[in-house]
Amino acid sequence: MNNKNVLISGVTGQAGSYLSEIFLNNGYKVYGITRRTSSPNIERIKLSLANPNFTIIEGDITDSFSVNDIVEKVRPAYIANAAAQSHVATSFEQPAFTWNATALGVLNILEAIRKTDKSIKLVQFSSSEMFGKNYSVKNAAIRDLNGLVTGFEYQVKYQDENTPMLPQSPYAIAKLAGHHLVRNYRESYGMNVCSAIFFNMESPRRGEKFVTRKITKWIGEFLQSPLGQCESLEFNDTCIFSSTLPGVVFPKLRLGNLNAYRDWGHAEEYMECVYTMLVEGKNRDYVLSTGKCISVADFLIKAFTYAGIKDCQNYIKIDESLKRPSEVDFLHGDSSLVRKELGWKPSKTIDDIVKEMVDHDKSAKAC
Ligand code: GDD
Repeated sequence: MNNKNVLISGVTGQAGSYLSEIFLNNGYKVYGITRRTSSPNIERIKLSLANPNFTIIEGDITDSFSVNDIVEKVRPAYIANAAAQSHVATSFEQPAFTWNATALGVLNILEAIRKTDKSIKLVQFSSSEMFGKNYSVKNAAIRDLNGLVTGFEYQVKYQDENTPMLPQSPYAIAKLAGHHLVRNYRESYGMNVCSAIFFNMESPRRGEKFVTRKITKWIGEFLQSPLGQCESLEFNDTCIFSSTLPGVVFPKLRLGNLNAYRDWGHAEEYMECVYTMLVEGKNRDYVLSTGKCISVADFLIKAFTYAGIKDCQNYIKIDESLKRPSEVDFLHGDSSLVRKELGWKPSKTIDDIVKEMVDHDKSAKAC
């Protein structure tokens, strides 16, 4: 392929920033779309910005004129749409903004491709949230190393490309609209467009409002506070303090529902798969997941334990206002299809991810 231009929307986010680095490392010219803001959010793209093959373009995927202009100017071989209003809880408070960024934005990109050059390949960032309350069930059994059944059979709940979708939030409904638009444009116009259905992606670059990063950031800040090194801590309903440090208090970590299960993988590994989907992949949708899931409570315990803080229940406060009007209880992806067809396989475990995030936030400078 002679055309080495790649367009990434949402480039300043966790996923977009990793994907940009992967394309740059493979000799591509990356054009990253960012929205105009008074204070630019460039923390995650510092590495990309240092590369002469990286260009920032100001634009907004909710504005069809802006998207048409950008696609016309860049004439990319590949587009990755990582832009969205991606916080599920926020989508209940700002549903129209969520709809525009997450659904209308996809339509604008598809139309720009259709009008400019139908051969441009697109990977849309779809979400496991689209499954909502639905899952599929399969039988599994305990087997020995030769694959022979040695133990009892049990049922496994999972979601894959064939699981029906039942979204539970304005965010998930908007993502499902984008997902179907991509399928419809592929089928109607023969366009090179497909979706990656991501289960939760984490890393030290994760936004601070998402639960994993909220936990690891709190741990980092607590350990850097005067109370972080204190032996004798005391707790009231909302705060942590110590009689040896009068007047010093630290607010407890406020969390909502701890009982939801998520299939948490590493964002950078998922972006390696998006690179393959764009450059080598077939034109089809894939689920990207680790195949392992744990609860928010399990993640919390793992993070506190790794940080060396015992009895994490003392440090948290359940805040009813952080619970969602409608919750997705269980996400457990089966990514057999992409593993078989593209040879992709995530290698980082949830323990690796916990360590990386806690270590990063423990050493982060307080702001
Ligand atoms: N954010 C947040 N903050 N979530 C909390 C909190 C809290 O204080 N307390 C409990 N939770 C629970 C949420 O209710 C949810 O069940 C779970 O933690 C994970 O929440 P998030 O980290 O906000 O992620 P998400 O699963 O809702 O959505 C993420 O993954 C999707 C893919 O499955 C986002 O990255 C989406 O954009 C993405 O599509």
